[in-house]
Amino acid sequence: MTSIPPLKIQELEVKLPIIQGGMGVGISLSGLASAVANAGGVGVISAAEIGMIYENDFMKNPQETNRRALIDEIERARQKAPEGVIGVNIMVAMTEFYELCEVAIEAKADIIFAGAGLPLGVPFEKLRGSHTKFSVIVSSARATTLIFRYWDRHYKDIPDMVVVEGPKAGGHLGFKLEEIDDPNFTLEKITPPVIEAIKPFEKKYSKKVPVVAAGGIYTGEDIYYFMNEIGTDGVQMATRFVATHECDADIKFKEAYIKAKKEDVVIIKSPVGLPGRAIKNKFLEDVWLGKRQPFKCIWQCLKGCDYRKAPYCITQALVNAKKGRFAGGFAFAGANVYRVDKIVSVQELMDELVGGYIKASETHR
Ligand SMILES: Cc1cc2nc3c(=O)[nH]c(=O)nc-3n(C[C@H](O)[C@H](O)[C@H](O)COP(=O)(O)O)c2cc1C
Repeated sequence: MTSIPPLKIQELEVKLPIIQGGMGVGISLSGLASAVANAGGVGVISAAEIGMIYENDFMKNPQETNRRALIDEIERARQKAPEGVIGVNIMVAMTEFYELCEVAIEAKADIIFAGAGLPLGVPFEKLRGSHTKFSVIVSSARATTLIFRYWDRHYKDIPDMVVVEGPKAGGHLGFKLEEIDDPNFTLEKITPPVIEAIKPFEKKYSKKVPVVAAGGIYTGEDIYYFMNEIGTDGVQMATRFVATHECDADIKFKEAYIKAKKEDVVIIKSPVGLPGRAIKNKFLEDVWLGKRQPFKCIWQCLKGCDYRKAPYCITQALVNAKKGRFAGGFAFAGANVYRVDKIVSVQELMDELVGGYIKASETHR
């Protein structure tokens, strides 16, 4: 019988080539990450303003609380999934990117995923003195070459994995508005040039760098397609993991996914200057009508955010949504969110995905 191949990230072997994408703010914490890790995939905790799980402390000292909460969540995930692979997603756009990488390494995360910007300045010595692997998240071959060239020159090394995130992903997108629906920028089009771009570096360092595709992957058949027709080593998925019992968001957040119709999925211009994909609601409609949500910026958590001009605080809006308080926020989601129709367990979802992969591989034999 055919089976799904494992994902090898250097010496780290993951039973299933399925990564649960990091979801901020507070959507993927230790609950979801440990469930995915126990089911054989890579479970990923999002570090984005993670300190908000300790609300009172966060208001007093957000940076210190973010660091403590990240350590605690990594430890909780480890306790729940001692044999599993646990990663941390840290956005380069975060003011604390470098420091949170150090915290994740010290707390012995298995892998760091760095997206929403180019991860050039990283705590390299600390990283290579640890077992923690480092994956970049990119949306073009150009960005990939830039990062690899920089690492080659400055660190005499290259990253351990690449996630290619296409325009159907949820949350902030690494594309210009006009590229999002352009057929030249689909995930299947942008991935092969990334695979090509890293080849000379893989050769120079005699190192196999796995490439993983993300954004709009929904079924086991999709996984089969990307791994066998496009040539990736695995996939990263997020939207489907929201509709699981173990996802760390409030039930109202998950219900927003189930209720969403195709026409509710919209592209917004986030206050950080990037486009993002979200589910339309009254909060967003008010923003479009020019209504400002008054807010006090506790601290400059994102490098590119000009809180004096922003019509609302993106972090606060996402925290509210995580807690099910949609009067003050909205849910990020991938383009396929309208296909989600029920909440299942992570194990059920993983079984469905693996089953779909095997079925597809048998049909293609
Ligand atoms: C609710 C939500 C929040 C997300 N937050 C982040 C984040 O904080 N950092 C990040 O790199 N990607 C984030 N993403 C992107 C996912 O990690 C993932 O790569 C992408 O959504 C995959 O596409 P899919 O949702 O169609 O499976 C988010 C996605 C969703 C749906």
